[in-house]
Amino acid sequence: MSPRRTVRVDLGDRSYPIVLGHETLADVGGAVAERTGASQAVLVSVPGVNRLYGATAARSLREAGLRVLRLEVPDGDATKNLRQVAKLYDALVEKGADRSAVVVSLGGGMVSDLAGFVAATYLRGIQFVTVPTTILAMVDAGVGGKVGVNLKQGKNLVGAFHQPRLVWVDTATLASLPRRDRAAGLAEVVKAGAIWDASFFDRLERAGEKLLEADPDLLIPVLARACQIKAEVVSRDERESGLRMILNFGHTLGHAVEALHRYRGILHGEAVAIGMVFAARRSEALGLAPEGTAERIEDLLRRLELPTERPDFARGAYLSALKVDKKKKDAHVRFVVLREIGRAETCPLTPAEILPAGRRSRAARGGRS
Ligand SMILES: NC(=O)c1ccc[n+]([C@@H]2O[C@H](COP(=O)([O-])OP(=O)(O)OC[C@H]3O[C@@H](n4cnc5c(N)ncnc54)[C@H](O)[C@@H]3O)[C@@H](O)[C@H]2O)c1
Ligand SMILES: [Zn+2]
Repeated sequence: MSPRRTVRVDLGDRSYPIVLGHETLADVGGAVAERTGASQAVLVSVPGVNRLYGATAARSLREAGLRVLRLEVPDGDATKNLRQVAKLYDALVEKGADRSAVVVSLGGGMVSDLAGFVAATYLRGIQFVTVPTTILAMVDAGVGGKVGVNLKQGKNLVGAFHQPRLVWVDTATLASLPRRDRAAGLAEVVKAGAIWDASFFDRLERAGEKLLEADPDLLIPVLARACQIKAEVVSRDERESGLRMILNFGHTLGHAVEALHRYRGILHGEAVAIGMVFAARRSEALGLAPEGTAERIEDLLRRLELPTERPDFARGAYLSALKVDKKKKDAHVRFVVLREIGRAETCPLTPAEILPAGRRSRAARGGRS
């Protein structure tokens, strides 16, 4: 029997558990009923995930005594928008969903952001539970309470903080997740170790490529620790003022890389992997981190089949992409640097300081130097 783990996210009266297990989807209903006391569950998913897991989740919710309304939204980040939100509101009103309803999202970060935003705003907020089915959603989107949608002007520009009542992780769902998505999610796991826990990072190095295989005995403790790290950081800084910024490690350049690709052809975790190696190299170059720090991160990410070299866009293009970083403060960006593996801090730098002139990407120079 695979291990079950519960990670408590400690936020006073809005605390909630993340329950991790294997082949546990059929038990989700009881947990939802117990945590929420809801009489109706609005199960929101995307077609591919719904086809694989929707029936099991819905049956479990029904067996726990909830009325179940199943809603589907089209897949893809392009549909994480206000039009879909409005459609979901319409369905909720039409089916008479009231304050006793709980929104349950089943899928990756896209659907949990969208469904969570609906839960945060419908009737000024109803209860929310997530059942993440990607590694990224398990360790990142599911923890922290940020929900929201994209505008045509940019990603995640509208949103709210709305904590779930429960996060229910069944690692058996990862069997169907494409390997590339698994790797991308693991980038955020590596990030957790790099910024917060050196011995966890060691453990990831020992496991290496085995992490890609979705073996529950290996993965459950690893995902649990990654959730716990994010939970620890978030509960010390729920509204993202200071400490929480370190979760952006690898994201400043990562967001620029995603934007330069127009969000096509590169996954978030892949861009973050590139960004982490870049940030670790900058940390070394600034004399903040010991030599060899970046190399360890790079080696681990490569074993996880993730890209590590900055794509060769013009420096000017990078600088303007870095400027639109919405986390920017004045001209400075709070760039996250490492002091060593397991310890991060922010450093105010202008885009030009982040990416000094005369540094071409290694990719453009023809590989490793
Ligand atoms: N709220 C937050 O704190 C936070 C943090 C990180 C990312 N996000 C958001 O999360 C989204 C990205 O999340 P994601 O990487 O999970 O992407 P995603 O939700 O788009 O899922 C990726 C793909 O995998 C498919 N899929 C999901 N689970 C599957 C499974 N078990 N088997 C087979 N296919 C499956 C999906 O249908 C989709 O095609 C973005 O919208 C991002 O903005 C939010
Ligand atoms: Zn991220």
